[in-house]
Amino acid sequence: MTDDHQLRVSKIQNGTVIDHVEAGQALNVLAILGIDGTSGETVSVGMNVPSDRLGRKDIVKVEGRELSQSEVDVLSLIAPAASINIVRDYEVVEKSRVVRPETVSGVVSCPNRNCISNADEPITSGFAVLSDGVRCDYCGAIVREKEIAANLDVS
Ligand code: CTP
Ligand code: ZN
Repeated sequence: MTDDHQLRVSKIQNGTVIDHVEAGQALNVLAILGIDGTSGETVSVGMNVPSDRLGRKDIVKVEGRELSQSEVDVLSLIAPAASINIVRDYEVVEKSRVVRPETVSGVVSCPNRNCISNADEPITSGFAVLSDGVRCDYCGAIVREKEIAANLDVS
């Protein structure tokens, strides 16, 4: 249910709305997308916004950017109920729920400093996706959901 009295974050013209983000995860969503405010894109964030479905939710709106599948895959790890809305000319032209992949490669880095994926070798990190985190294919180290944003392989 939205009406003008309830709208807390302005609509966007073109870009992506990441909606139904688990409350408390908005800043991690920004970290995953590499948004720190220095690149000039317009970004709106709502935190602990009332939601029929989730009670409270976070929402992130990024102007002028449509997300890649690998970005959406990582988001699914920290925001499993999120919906991705592509907006063009103020209209939602595409809406999808994130889908948790079975594995992720090249996006999370292993927290184990002795892991072979952290050695000076051309090895791409690989993790199996669990219900509340991911497990390194090489050493079995587990990265919990809340720690994923701090262990990203994207620079
Ligand atoms: N939105 C936006 N800018 C637009 C269009 C939509 O910021 N130009 C936002 C809306 O505020 C909403 C989300 O994108 O948070 C999805 O929009 P819409 O599909 O119109 O809303 P709902 O039907 O309520 O979405 P859902 O069924 O996924 O809850
Ligand atoms: Zn490892």
